[in-house]
Amino acid sequence: MKKITALMLSSAMMLSLAACGGSASTDTASSEAASSEAASSEAVSTEEAASADAAELTTVTAGKLTMSTNAAFPPYEMTTDSGDFEGIDVEVAGAIAEKLGLELQVDDMDFDAALLAAQNGKSDIVMAGVTVTDERQKVMDFSDTYAEGIQSIIVPEDSDIASADDLTGKAIGTQRGTTGYIYCTDDFGEDNVIAYDDGLTAVQALNNGQVDAVVIDNAPAKSFVEANPGLKILDTAYAQEDYAIGVAKGNTALLDAINSALEEL
Ligand code: ARG
Repeated sequence: MKKITALMLSSAMMLSLAACGGSASTDTASSEAASSEAASSEAVSTEEAASADAAELTTVTAGKLTMSTNAAFPPYEMTTDSGDFEGIDVEVAGAIAEKLGLELQVDDMDFDAALLAAQNGKSDIVMAGVTVTDERQKVMDFSDTYAEGIQSIIVPEDSDIASADDLTGKAIGTQRGTTGYIYCTDDFGEDNVIAYDDGLTAVQALNNGQVDAVVIDNAPAKSFVEANPGLKILDTAYAQEDYAIGVAKGNTALLDAINSALEEL
């Protein structure tokens, strides 16, 4: 069982991501990145290096960096009331696109479809709080890690489930195609794990008593629990993992450009 005892986010990483900008739209992310580059001549010269990389980049749509995602995963990606995309991944992707001299295009779809889109070259990158796993590394390439994720367990406040071990024999809700689903089916058997289209639907099923617990990444877990009184996140985490940007296997030009942009950010 992939279990760890301490609940701990990489605060340094979160801080540096927060520094990318707190506000919403892709445009804002780009212009913030542009103005911080203009502020330092050192940054300007590294940007020249990055756009030199970009000159050799072939993307799905010329002049654009197409990102597939599942925008139901706050605070990494979500939609605003007006239908724009926002969140940490959108901000970071916007800043990378800016460094590469490209315009960010966000394509929202189911999580498993977002992974496939990048694998099949329908999108340039998948950025969706994607955990690096051995299985995924067989079918796609990953950038350097940009954040840490934790698989958390959400239960009703009065639940008798106090740790991952207690999930044995319980009905567990997860999001389809995620590591939460994969780990839980491995550990507790397919019959006990229900896959929902997105995390919020799984949490609603928990609210309705259709499942006994939901296993999902800690950051969206916090936001779903905040919005749904009567639920709590267990203190013991289920698994700790690394998030990275996925690209089609063998697309080293794009991967190198992304990694240098990430390093500068
Ligand atoms: N980190 C998990 C995984 O890679 C879940 C990611 C879900 N992301 C999303 N945008 N819905 O499987």
